[in-house]
Amino acid sequence: MSILLQEEQDHILTLTLHRPEALNALNRALLLALDEAFAYADENDAIRCVVLTGAGDKAFAAGADIEELSAMSALEATAFSRLGNRMMRRIETLRKPVIAAVNGYALGGGCELAMACHLRIAHPRARFGLPEITLGLMPGFGGSQRLPRLIGKARALELMLTGRPVKAEEAVQLGLANQCPPEADFASAVEQLARQLAGNATMASQLLLQAVETGLDLPMEHALQVESQQFGLCFDHPDAREGTEAFLQKRKPRFL
Ligand code: CAA
Repeated sequence: MSILLQEEQDHILTLTLHRPEALNALNRALLLALDEAFAYADENDAIRCVVLTGAGDKAFAAGADIEELSAMSALEATAFSRLGNRMMRRIETLRKPVIAAVNGYALGGGCELAMACHLRIAHPRARFGLPEITLGLMPGFGGSQRLPRLIGKARALELMLTGRPVKAEEAVQLGLANQCPPEADFASAVEQLARQLAGNATMASQLLLQAVETGLDLPMEHALQVESQQFGLCFDHPDAREGTEAFLQKRKPRFL
């Protein structure tokens, strides 16, 4: 069976990490499979939203594959980190929204993978953390950069220096997860959000994702210029006319 399951339905691509025997740990093969799947999602116009989750009821992903890591030289580890970072960046800069449905442990590389997604829904049993320090390592798939950006430097340093895992509710309080629905509602919360995002005006959604991604690393003056440019580009697409006219006509918009 494949290590990455793919299912497409109603414009939503669901990707399931499938290495249950290793709690869906990210080895080289899985990173390459993810890279390929997200490249496909980016190019395929029929896909409007991606959901990423883990197989089984225990883990989203328990990190980079420690067995593979244990045999690496410094050069091999650098190449492995580059591969992971390239793939995570592909997710972050994808033109479609990506939801991480964090169904269990999201540790080390698994937490880094969830952080590269645009939104995170945490199952009550989810545990987030960057425990690399306990292995004599540090995060290598973007965690040292994304966690401080998401939750602030002091809180990120505390989590990375101690390796302490956080429960789903604390993850929401920290701003690491967007929501933590009750266990019985987890699947429907993921589906509802995915359907809502897939039903959005695709060009506006794409321009918005780009504005946030580009603007965050720019000084405010430049970032606002990017916003004005992207805002203007929305008007080049029929969805803008449809959305505004539908509002004035008091009806639901029918986006392309
Ligand atoms: N890599 C490889 N195998 C892993 C793994 C990982 N990250 N995490 C778990 N496994 C394997 C275990 O070795 C075990 O295999 P066997 O049954 O063959 O012994 C199987 O998955 C089940 O795991 P446990 O028996 O440990 O399950 P548990 O319920 O007792 O504990 C856990 C669950 C707390 C998540 C524990 O497995 C754990 O601590 N995993 C490692 C978490 C971690 O340190 N992640 C960071 C990795 S380094 C990294 O990610 C670097 C980077 O940034 C790029």
